[in-house]
Amino acid sequence: MRALGIVGSLRVASYNKALLRAAVEQAPAGMSVETFDIAPIPPYNQDVEVLGIPEPVAALKRAITEADALLVVSPEYNYGVPGVLKNAIDWASRPPGKSPLNGKPAAIMGASMGTGGTIRMQLALRQTFLFTETYVMVKPEIFVARAQDRFDEQGRLTDDKTREIVKQFMAALGDWARRFPRPA
Ligand SMILES: Cc1cc2nc3c(=O)[nH]c(=O)nc-3n(C[C@H](O)[C@H](O)[C@H](O)COP(=O)(O)O)c2cc1C
Repeated sequence: MRALGIVGSLRVASYNKALLRAAVEQAPAGMSVETFDIAPIPPYNQDVEVLGIPEPVAALKRAITEADALLVVSPEYNYGVPGVLKNAIDWASRPPGKSPLNGKPAAIMGASMGTGGTIRMQLALRQTFLFTETYVMVKPEIFVARAQDRFDEQGRLTDDKTREIVKQFMAALGDWARRFPRPA
């Protein structure tokens, strides 16, 4: 079982990058989690797309195709999905109906410094994944609120309760992905 982790924050000390690292640590036996850095993905432009897919986009699409599950870990920006993440998903969604996102099992996690823990971002992303027919895990959900109280300065998860929830979430993602096996 291979999961692909994508983070919607580019900053080095990102709590969401830290949350993905915690998810990697808590992944169940038999699941590996590879991380894909979306920083090199250019802004979506259909004029560019028709001339040829930029290499970072091709790499993203390949990585999604080869993964058994997609794990999106993202902050919430202005009650929505960060532009860099939405942009990467827009590229990956092409061509509609035949994109690597179609039928891909996925899960969404998020950490924020506020009390909402990315609730609105997650709902907005679920709406996008409706169009792409990406099978987002229904439950459990994870909303890591007040991330600054749960990670230390080195980005290590210090909150045992959150670690346990992440562990359960990753086990559930493994079960969810097995319901939608990748075509041979
Ligand atoms: C442009 C911008 C918009 C933000 N909007 C929200 C928001 O809508 N809700 C929220 O809880 N936090 C919001 N925040 C604060 C983030 O929760 C906080 O910056 C968080 O650390 C970002 O995630 P990261 O640590 O993974 O980069 C926003 C931050 C930025 C930079």
